[in-house]
Amino acid sequence: MRIDILTILPELLESPFKYSIIKRAAKKGLAEIVIHNIRDFSTDKHKKVDDYSFSKGAGMVMAIQPIEAAINHLKSQREYDEIIYTTPDGVQFNQQEANGLSLKKNLIILCGHYKGVDQRVRDHFITKEYSIGDYVLTGGELAAAVIADSVVRLIPGVLSDETSALTDSFQDHLLSPPVYTRPADYKGWKVPDILLSGNEKKIDEWKHLQSVERTKKLRPDLYKKFSEGG
Ligand code: ADE
Repeated sequence: MRIDILTILPELLESPFKYSIIKRAAKKGLAEIVIHNIRDFSTDKHKKVDDYSFSKGAGMVMAIQPIEAAINHLKSQREYDEIIYTTPDGVQFNQQEANGLSLKKNLIILCGHYKGVDQRVRDHFITKEYSIGDYVLTGGELAAAVIADSVVRLIPGVLSDETSALTDSFQDHLLSPPVYTRPADYKGWKVPDILLSGNEKKIDEWKHLQSVERTKKLRPDLYKKFSEGG
């Protein structure tokens, strides 16, 4: 998979992709993340990428020209499955969306900024608009990093234990069960006996029950989906 990220703040995205799983995915040739500075595509003599809004008091808006040039440049090199825009007024991103995107080959993510992007960009280029939550970030870069991370780790071969992505929280609308490591008794705080029993079947049953109970208590919205089988 290849993900091209268009941003006016490339520095903000350098470190998230330099480390951990994403770096391993790049090394194995399973995922390539390429960051582009939108400013490089501006035809303005000062390399401007924004301008005043036509509606009074609405702040600066990201202009269409450099974004169109960047997208067309990329599209001339390969076909893209989705062109994503990160924005607080997008559809809420979740595990199901990540699963869908992990099956794609080439993605573009456009990071929003200021008061948003000229609506014509959204109308004519963008195929998916995502929010990562009901709060406003200073820019869409962190949202793009969240989306790219959650998608790349699902590509087969990226995680060393193939099954671990399948047992993540949210995959079946359930939160993960609690986990423990040694020591089994830390200052009197004990690991549940069942986990020390060696009975795999009973342990699996316990883990499932814990997941269900946790979800019911902490995320009634997810629990509803789980109990409806959705
Ligand atoms: N840009 C600013 N806030 C955002 C959010 N919550 N999700 C995605 N992009 C954003």
